[in-house]
Amino acid sequence: MKIKVLFTPNNLEELYFTGKTSVAIDVLRATSTIIAALSNGAREVIPVASIDFAIKVSGNIFGGMTLLAGERNTKMIEGFNLGNSPLEFTEEVISGKSIILYTTNGTRTIVKAKFSENLFICSFNNISSIAKHLVKLKKDVEIICSGTNGFFSLEDVVCAGKLISQILEKAPKAELADSAKASVVISKSFGKTLLKMLKETEHGRLLIENGFLEDLKYCSKIDSIDIIPCFVSGSIKKLDLNNPDN
Ligand code: MLT
Repeated sequence: MKIKVLFTPNNLEELYFTGKTSVAIDVLRATSTIIAALSNGAREVIPVASIDFAIKVSGNIFGGMTLLAGERNTKMIEGFNLGNSPLEFTEEVISGKSIILYTTNGTRTIVKAKFSENLFICSFNNISSIAKHLVKLKKDVEIICSGTNGFFSLEDVVCAGKLISQILEKAPKAELADSAKASVVISKSFGKTLLKMLKETEHGRLLIENGFLEDLKYCSKIDSIDIIPCFVSGSIKKLDLNNPDN
């Protein structure tokens, strides 16, 4: 098992991911929100790479069982039902619904990695579940940090490093690429108090300025949720661990 971390998805083509086992991370906030939505009973999350496409897809779906969610500059997009705060995705609002989600970096990362053989969604909230599953799969892993507009985001790399440390506890012989070794060191030095770290990141500071401090608290909770969201054929659903093929 070899583990590599991509600090941003920007330099890579979609076809790079063909046949790979990938893990997408956007701690603030897309992957935290997707995990919240699925754990609170959403049927599926459909990630899209543009606002136009989100509107187009929602126009093809009838029956009030679909919600349009997403953000531009961290704020809800006009005409959408929800923004990108995990706290909005409560059971009352989203249970049984399909959510079409557009975010500036996170959903674009997921869409870019769509040709992966396995594509999992990770944040601090479900790190142990993902680590356990990857160890079981025994495949090489590409961890994709969404970053911000093509630049490195500390919170995503700290999350990648913690995920790798958890994998190493169960699979100490896993081989680490340089990027994976660096992520582990970064997570050890910045990941001791996650909320403090998030508050001091560039994106964390912007979210606080825009009134989303509670989101940082939510996103900093390690292993608060025990699910493995998996992207298959255009939508993200909870992996059914009772299915022997998983
Ligand atoms: C993104 O995908 O860029 C983020 O999720 C932005 C946000 O915090 O809403």
